[in-house]
Amino acid sequence: MKLFHNPASPFVRKVMVALIETGQLDDVTLISVAGSPTASEQMPTAQNPLGKVPTLIRDSGPAIYDSRVICRFFDHRAGGRLYPESHLWETLTLEATADGMMDAAVLMVYEARCRPEDKRSEEWVESQWNKVSRALDALESRWMSHLSGPLDMGQIAVGCALGYLDFRHDARNWRKGREALAAWYEDFAGRPAMQVTQPRA
Ligand code: BEZ
Repeated sequence: MKLFHNPASPFVRKVMVALIETGQLDDVTLISVAGSPTASEQMPTAQNPLGKVPTLIRDSGPAIYDSRVICRFFDHRAGGRLYPESHLWETLTLEATADGMMDAAVLMVYEARCRPEDKRSEEWVESQWNKVSRALDALESRWMSHLSGPLDMGQIAVGCALGYLDFRHDARNWRKGREALAAWYEDFAGRPAMQVTQPRA
């Protein structure tokens, strides 16, 4: 199989961590692409009309995307450990929360990268950060017990979202006032799968 990949993308990182944690990394060849919403020449637009990474070309059948679908596909292939039936809706909701954090955090980066300076909106950027901030508060106040349980895809997604905040939004100091989440991440970021997938520009 072939995976369209960019080492800075937190969504790609989710897939990579899931591949490593389920022992399937050798089943995939990575195709490196770079791009943004305003520079899609290298992006997999023929396989995914949205022109986004990650996109997976399977051995047979059409390409699949986005990261949630690909992670579910690989987990199913490996026996279903990362989406346990007993906590399925919580796991999916936690993954959706982390994906929403990534979406907002990536849009903040694109605002600076893709838009001319005189067209940028500080208010819009702050409204994206407000989403991230509310999600961080929800993780700290409501999700710590789930995060501390057996490994699942919700935890992997949160780990990748927090790693992206350190990578691109370090100055926002997300750990302040979220000591339980910060302590959880300290431990989670030490997993070998997290260590070898640290984001790179
Ligand atoms: C980034 O450079 O932050 C980035 C690259 C690809 C996808 C998402 C984010």
